[in-house]
Amino acid sequence: MRGITNCELRIADCELSEDAVADLQFRADPAGLDGSKQGESDMNQAQPTSQPAAESADVARPVFIECDNLVKIYKVADLEVVALQGLDLVVREGEMMALVGPSGSGKSTLMNILGGLDFPTAGRVRVGDYNLLELTRRDQVRYRRFMVGFVWQQTARNLLPYLTALENVELPMALAGFPARERRARAADLLERVGLADRMRHRPDRLSGGEQQRVAIAVAMANRPRLLLADEPTGEVDNQSAEQIFHTLRALNADFNVTIIIVTHDMTVSTRVDRVVGMRDGRTSTEILRRREGDIAIHEEEYAILDRAGRLQLPEAYIEALDLEDRVRLHLYEDHIGVWPEHAHRNGDGEGQE
Ligand SMILES: Nc1ncnc2c1ncn2[C@@H]1O[C@H](COP(=O)(O)OP(=O)(O)OP(=O)(O)O)[C@@H](O)[C@H]1O
Ligand SMILES: [Mg+2]
Repeated sequence: MRGITNCELRIADCELSEDAVADLQFRADPAGLDGSKQGESDMNQAQPTSQPAAESADVARPVFIECDNLVKIYKVADLEVVALQGLDLVVREGEMMALVGPSGSGKSTLMNILGGLDFPTAGRVRVGDYNLLELTRRDQVRYRRFMVGFVWQQTARNLLPYLTALENVELPMALAGFPARERRARAADLLERVGLADRMRHRPDRLSGGEQQRVAIAVAMANRPRLLLADEPTGEVDNQSAEQIFHTLRALNADFNVTIIIVTHDMTVSTRVDRVVGMRDGRTSTEILRRREGDIAIHEEEYAILDRAGRLQLPEAYIEALDLEDRVRLHLYEDHIGVWPEHAHRNGDGEGQE
């Protein structure tokens, strides 16, 4: 454990954000390790697999993440901000999906909850066997250490500036108690996988923004999490670097069957992931699925999400196109539902026209 002591000393000497310090202390907290082998078995959950991840999200795979009527309310002084208002989401094991939506729609709030960094106010959220609403402190440590890896938008938040790329990737393993030789070999392997075999000895200030993000991805994968969360990982890099980051994430998804959720504003994201979920006002609102037809043809279909209460959000473009307001008329047909503006012309049988 000498490595850990050294890390702690050096961490104390440098400037880190409050979050980063809390995170590192949290990871280093021996209370999280109860001496059992639980951590080691968790660690082995996302071993490399020769099975590539399936191309489309609707292939039957076990449900891995389940959010049910999730609510998050932030209280600031006397004000309450409802960041998530009854969000439902199901993510299957090994899926690579993107979350998109306007600023303030709750994307980061959801990511922080799934990352075990924040707690929901109400609802249900399960990741694997963990019920995130009722985590004990010990479970929370274990969850954050072995189950989930996180990549932030700000490159500086992901890496320690005075450690080389290799040392940065080794750090989470050192804090988890891996022997030095194993962590060095695993860190080198991960850096190779993210295309940085020739940059291992560089410190972050000698790496481009895109390279730093790929080191950050290797750091997030260090303890072989089953879930990788990336909150706008391409937000601060150019197009070519963004392309490499998506490529890297896709390769890790295929090699380790790790489930990946990426928050992004990249408009081309739907071609790079299995599924794009749109968020609006603290809820999921639309989904774009990629479907494979036969061997090669891939096309995208956009879906609206129907929640358990039967609520459906119409896309803004549809609302504007038909000038929909306040009330709409509905009619059930054999295989679909028609929606008309309240005062739309009625045809002979008293129903609206399509
Ligand atoms: N720690 C906090 N305290 C109070 N309010 C917060 C906090 N974090 C987020 N919020 C509020 O919750 C809502 C959702 O914020 P969130 O950061 O999840 O949005 P986002 O979709 O990630 O936006 P962006 O695309 O700008 O990153 C916003 O109204 C935001 O102001
Ligand atoms: Mg955000």
